[in-house]
Amino acid sequence: MNSDPSSGPVGTPRRTAGHSRLEPPTETPIHVVDDDQVIVDGLTHFLRQRGFLVHGFTEPTQALSVIREGPPHLLIVDRNMPGMGGFDLARSALEEDPDIGVIILTGAREVELAIDAFRLGVSDYLLKPLDFGEIERTVRRVLIRRSQEIFHRDTESRMRRAVENRTLELERKNKLLEGVTVGALTALVDILEQKNPHFQGHSQGVAVLSEKIATEMGLPTIEVRACKTAGFLHDIGMIAVPDKLVEKTSPLTRDESAQIQQHCRIGKELLDPFTHLGPVPDYVFHHHERIDGSGYPDGLAGMDIPMGAQVVAVADSFRALVEPRPYRTAHSPTEAIEILVGAAGIWHSDEILSALARLRPSASA
Ligand SMILES: [Fe+2]
Repeated sequence: MNSDPSSGPVGTPRRTAGHSRLEPPTETPIHVVDDDQVIVDGLTHFLRQRGFLVHGFTEPTQALSVIREGPPHLLIVDRNMPGMGGFDLARSALEEDPDIGVIILTGAREVELAIDAFRLGVSDYLLKPLDFGEIERTVRRVLIRRSQEIFHRDTESRMRRAVENRTLELERKNKLLEGVTVGALTALVDILEQKNPHFQGHSQGVAVLSEKIATEMGLPTIEVRACKTAGFLHDIGMIAVPDKLVEKTSPLTRDESAQIQQHCRIGKELLDPFTHLGPVPDYVFHHHERIDGSGYPDGLAGMDIPMGAQVVAVADSFRALVEPRPYRTAHSPTEAIEILVGAAGIWHSDEILSALARLRPSASA
């Protein structure tokens, strides 16, 4: 029962916002629960005199139903009560609201009791007979600590949300910028592909297949997007290679090959200023590396080759094989995969070739 009818209805006290000041807010509701009416009256009277909003109960079950309507900031509860004991009431109250500060009143002095209480989430405990000076210090300490904890947690939560929102916003802007950049560079890719009719649609084909392979491999979304973009732009450096070499259909001399190989470096230099493209310039730079180290421009081998560059390289090789060339007809997709798998460990890695084989790509996509 509510031991103090003159206090009016207990109502549904609400938590105030967390704050960091070192004085506890006196408007914060405190519930005192003890089966001893004298202790309830004494404590409520004393704390009200100190300016706190206090409600007293001698029935723990009634206190719990009021707590469920609106949790107090602080629960001062006797450990030994008939029926629902102090620990049970504290546990139920903390399930309702883990932010409730709980002070246990007890006559016991066992260390085990303190350990059990703190394990339960109790903030502090007071020994009977009660010392009012100690009560006030403990109440203020628990309320201040509670306010500080809520304040720090809310601040952390706000900062985490702000960082998350900022990251999402940056990602959205990057995606937008990437789209604009790729759109603008499409004109260069078109010019490049017009130089040689056999290259028509090659960049788009490599982009689509790179995206599919990266997805099949379970790479993160941001990496899949980078592979797609690098696939589309992989040969953009060819724009600076003399037309007569790009258009040449007969075998290249060593010097001509060396000039053609410059397209990796030129592509990277062209794309490097677009910092929002992330790893794309690197993937473009390394898309002619081979897994055994026999490729160019750096002769990287194995896992030293960026994964995105390896994905683009496999897509580029497959597309080149299923496209006709002046010196041969197009291979079927099955033949292309057989050729690439036959050179596994030399040109490309097993892992990426397996992903390609699982995809069973057609000649058109
Ligand atoms: Fe290339």
